[in-house]
Amino acid sequence: MNESQQLDEIITCRINDSRKIVEPCTMIIFGASGDLTSRKLIPALYHLYTEKALPKPFRIVGFARREKSDQQWRDELKIAVEQFSRTQPIDSNVWTEFAANICYTRGDLSEASAYQALEQRLNSFGDERLRLNLLCYLATSPSQFGEVVEHLHNAGLLTRDDQQKFWQRIVVEKPFGHDLATAEQLNSDLTRFAHEKQVFRIDHYLGKETVQNILMFRFSNAIFEQLWNRQSIDHVQITVSEKLGVGERGGYYEEAGAIRDMVQNHLLQVLSLVAMEPPVSLDAEPIRDEKVKLLKSIRPLGVADVAKQVVRGQYFAGMIDGKPRPGYRQETKVKNGSDVETFVAMKLLIDNWRWSGVPFFLRTGKSLPLSASEVRVQFKPTPHVLFAEKCGGKLDANAITLRLQPNEGIYLRFNGKVPGTSLSVRPVRMHFSYNSEFGAYTPEAYERLLLEAMAGDATLFIRRDEVETAWGIVDSIRKGWENKPLTNREFYSAGTWGPVAADDLIAQSAHEWRNPQPAS
Ligand code: BG6
Repeated sequence: MNESQQLDEIITCRINDSRKIVEPCTMIIFGASGDLTSRKLIPALYHLYTEKALPKPFRIVGFARREKSDQQWRDELKIAVEQFSRTQPIDSNVWTEFAANICYTRGDLSEASAYQALEQRLNSFGDERLRLNLLCYLATSPSQFGEVVEHLHNAGLLTRDDQQKFWQRIVVEKPFGHDLATAEQLNSDLTRFAHEKQVFRIDHYLGKETVQNILMFRFSNAIFEQLWNRQSIDHVQITVSEKLGVGERGGYYEEAGAIRDMVQNHLLQVLSLVAMEPPVSLDAEPIRDEKVKLLKSIRPLGVADVAKQVVRGQYFAGMIDGKPRPGYRQETKVKNGSDVETFVAMKLLIDNWRWSGVPFFLRTGKSLPLSASEVRVQFKPTPHVLFAEKCGGKLDANAITLRLQPNEGIYLRFNGKVPGTSLSVRPVRMHFSYNSEFGAYTPEAYERLLLEAMAGDATLFIRRDEVETAWGIVDSIRKGWENKPLTNREFYSAGTWGPVAADDLIAQSAHEWRNPQPAS
């Protein structure tokens, strides 16, 4: 390699090459016949297997109520993987090799004898690492977490991890509770027989490459981090829009609404990464400490604040991509006249030294014109002299948009002179695209999350105090909505960017929503 080639070589700093060790272990999936297993977990594990990322040896045990043999379950999973895997086509030989590690145990979650049978199954593997290193994935209803954990403990399958040679971990999915009180109850159920550090709460947004990149972007680039504060930033908009309606999930959604389904977890997670202080190290606890600190600095919302700072919405029938879409109240399993929100927009203020006075606008909704998640950081305008003065309100302030999905990338918007003899200024964009920089890569959050849980790295999982703080915020918003039916200004037609009330909300701060743009 000559000198100029050396200079051109892109330096990649591999941060955790020496850190992650995934020991041989067994992953037990409780509630294995559910959708999550066939759509997400097994396709993710299969992909990891093809990449040789799984430990050797490794086993997957499905635990559910229906009677079936190992082979029957493997056959069902093969069909699912053929449909849902991102590694297409499925190589039959590789599948057969992989499937040899999968087995099934029939059992009722509430029967002690089922856990004894499970224990025998694990023993039959004949390797103490496969019997004692256990990743217990609770793909069950949260109301069963407490009893599963207790049975696991009684059967000797879960012991507190006090620096022992082997480990057992519990992975849980959302919804993690229904409000703060139920989340606290779940947390105490889970930690009766395990330490908090053995509990891995998933928020699949944290497994997304672009969400992880928020910290890299902020803390490995001096030029941006120096501007990341109240002196330079005017306001921040976080949008997670979805084109899909509620569809078949009406039953679940009636209980959740957008605030529990999206805000309590995904939006507040993105906000905490965008706004947190630098952690003292890249280990799990310092990062999670800073996220909790940030959530705790959000100015509490009393009932009167909710009326001013939070807007709900619900879609009625409309058109998306030229096709008619039903209203929320016409979706399956939705109650007549339901007031459940399918859209939320809010203005949050963060009372700390860095962000005092900078509004953060968050919004999410279903049946919107486009599916896109992005963070737009809007900088303060230039002083009203020179170009700003000449252009009146037409000179746009700078903005950085972190496009989380799809068309993952980062845009920097600034003003440039339009070529020619006249003096015209207009916004132009600098664009970093993941696809053009790194090639077409569609990372699947579950692959990363499962591997991290097996490696025992909790950075991408939600800690107890984090989930509880987020529920505290959501509970105060829901309190503000109590006994208040939706008003006309809170309905929106499917295929539009939410209700008029959301535009009013941001207009009160003299701003406007910047809607994500489709791929160009
Ligand atoms: C889930 C919600 O957690 O996230 C769904 O329950 C939502 O309602 C989904 O559609 C969005 O995830 P993604 O990865 O498609 O942005």
